[in-house]
Amino acid sequence: MVAVKPLILALAAGHLAHAQLNTAAKAAGLLYFGTAVDNGDLSDSQYLPNLETDDFGQITPANSMKWQPTEPSQGSYTFSQGDQIASLAKTNNDYLRCHNLVWYNQLPSYITSGSWTNETLIAALKEHINGVVTHWKGQCYAWDVVNEALNEDGTYRQNVFYQHIGEAYIPIAFAAAAAADPNAKLYYNDYNIEYPGAKATGAQNIVKSIQAAGARIDGVGLQAHFIVGQTPSLASQKANMAAFTALGVDVAITELDIRMTLPDTSALQTQQSTDYQTTTTACVQTKGCVGITLWDFTDKHSWVPGTFSGQGDACPWDSNYKKKPAYYGILAGLQSGAGGSTTLTTTTTSTPTTTSSPATTTTTGAGSGTGAAHWGQCGGNGWTGPTTCVSPYTCQVVNPYYSQCL
Ligand code: XIL
Repeated sequence: MVAVKPLILALAAGHLAHAQLNTAAKAAGLLYFGTAVDNGDLSDSQYLPNLETDDFGQITPANSMKWQPTEPSQGSYTFSQGDQIASLAKTNNDYLRCHNLVWYNQLPSYITSGSWTNETLIAALKEHINGVVTHWKGQCYAWDVVNEALNEDGTYRQNVFYQHIGEAYIPIAFAAAAAADPNAKLYYNDYNIEYPGAKATGAQNIVKSIQAAGARIDGVGLQAHFIVGQTPSLASQKANMAAFTALGVDVAITELDIRMTLPDTSALQTQQSTDYQTTTTACVQTKGCVGITLWDFTDKHSWVPGTFSGQGDACPWDSNYKKKPAYYGILAGLQSGAGGSTTLTTTTTSTPTTTSSPATTTTTGAGSGTGAAHWGQCGGNGWTGPTTCVSPYTCQVVNPYYSQCL
């Protein structure tokens, strides 16, 4: 995958020098840094110039590959919207994460209200998976095969598939996807499995049950729809990722956003930056965490305000495509791996409100006295690490939160 991006567009957008999340992700050993893209986003003239930079090397269609849009009536497929996202990935040499095949949401009514038997629903499930996966065969780096199959306590969610087929619908789905595209990485994807607990254990049991059934599963997607100040600690996220990779599967952060109760404040933005940095660091410092995807990168097109009343500003870019402190938190996290110029220590500061533990991440310098490496952080509000750079780089102020060795 060679990221050849339109230089002119990046220059026109005026952020070439610092447009580098994907570059930094690859330098840290990840495959990509990416974002969800919805078809409607593309009609905003500011969207593509901000997407087609070295910040992004992967995209996920936010909606257009789901069951409802792809097979709105049984046996009749519509691929044009999904094709638009797939061809955008191709044009930009981006990895494409395809999303998703089996989910209880965004289903056509012939599925949710049909009178199914075990046999007929298995046939319809296999037919759908075969039809959709075959259409994009060879184009998907990964498929989210089954999405959100679990309740919060780790038991199976009651949905039409579970009701008629039982838990076997999951390995059946993975086997059908594997048969249709042997090269796509096959993922189970869910939220609230980013930290150890009953639901994460449930997801590990899903991995094991697919493996026990003799089907292939390659990865688990940790959605990571978080709340500012309530994200799991670095230690918790790393331990959790390790519990998945110990089963022989990759992990990826697939839908990262960190929302806040509005109105936004600079204190919330600073905490949000810390929280983005923590999750990014967890992935970078976990062997087997292959990449990070934002669930859209700009507040202008985020799903959050429409879904969580009174909440928003969850993305690293604001509604005017201006980078927020969160952007620089991600960058610092991407530079936290082996050979990076920072080390992180975490302290749990309070008890969890619901299911996740708030954490404070403080960043301290390597302290070698030799200066930060190329691309490394060398200053910014709250920064206590190195303030000089190894030769021949110089410490340049990017914004009040972040200076970088360039
Ligand atoms: C969301 C989309 O972003 C919205 O536009 C849509 O209205 C609902 O779905 N978990 C998932 C994603 O796996 O598919 C969801 O995407 C967000 C939660």
